[in-house]
Amino acid sequence: MTEFDLRGFRILPGYLSAECQADLVAALRDVAAQAPLFSPVTASGKAMSVRMTSAGSYGWVSDRSRYRYAAAHPDGQSWPAIPSAVLGIWRDLVSDLRDPDCCLMNYYGEGARMGLHQDRDEADFSWPVLSISLGDEGLLRIGNPVRGGSTVSHWLRSGDVVVMGGAARMTYHGVDRIRFGSSALLKMGGRINLTCRVVD
Ligand code: SIN
Ligand code: MN
Repeated sequence: MTEFDLRGFRILPGYLSAECQADLVAALRDVAAQAPLFSPVTASGKAMSVRMTSAGSYGWVSDRSRYRYAAAHPDGQSWPAIPSAVLGIWRDLVSDLRDPDCCLMNYYGEGARMGLHQDRDEADFSWPVLSISLGDEGLLRIGNPVRGGSTVSHWLRSGDVVVMGGAARMTYHGVDRIRFGSSALLKMGGRINLTCRVVD
């Protein structure tokens, strides 16, 4: 399927071949072995249903109800390097002038979801956020650059890539639910979403 625009999000369905998806999963298994998935705590003090880890010079952590980028995993070790296959996608679709500082890896198990939010902890919003979906289908909801208003929804499938940039860089977005078991890519089921960000 050819790419299309949804409220400024550039959606590239099936961008990654089955082989690329399998290679990525293998690389991400190494990332998670070095930097185990953990459950961040939301501002209200509850554990998020999505588990996370990161690769790159920065990773995303929550501490005392505040989110921030940190140079180390909560267990103390530095984050592993961003897999080269991920950097290749970034260079193809975003820029070869600079690589992302952070590749956030979200894992959605059965029942996991992510509320509407903006990605706004980065210093320079002129850099897009690149999102890569693997495994079970996830229902992406896209709102507006300010809170409230109408939303549109779109099912993201394994191998789909989204570039969130330009005016849509600050658009509210979230994942309402996943179709657990809809893909055979991940042995344990569930959905992985990678988001690559320039942080500094
Ligand atoms: C995110 O906004 O961090 C994740 C989006 C997604 O899971 O597709
Ligand atoms: Mn986001």
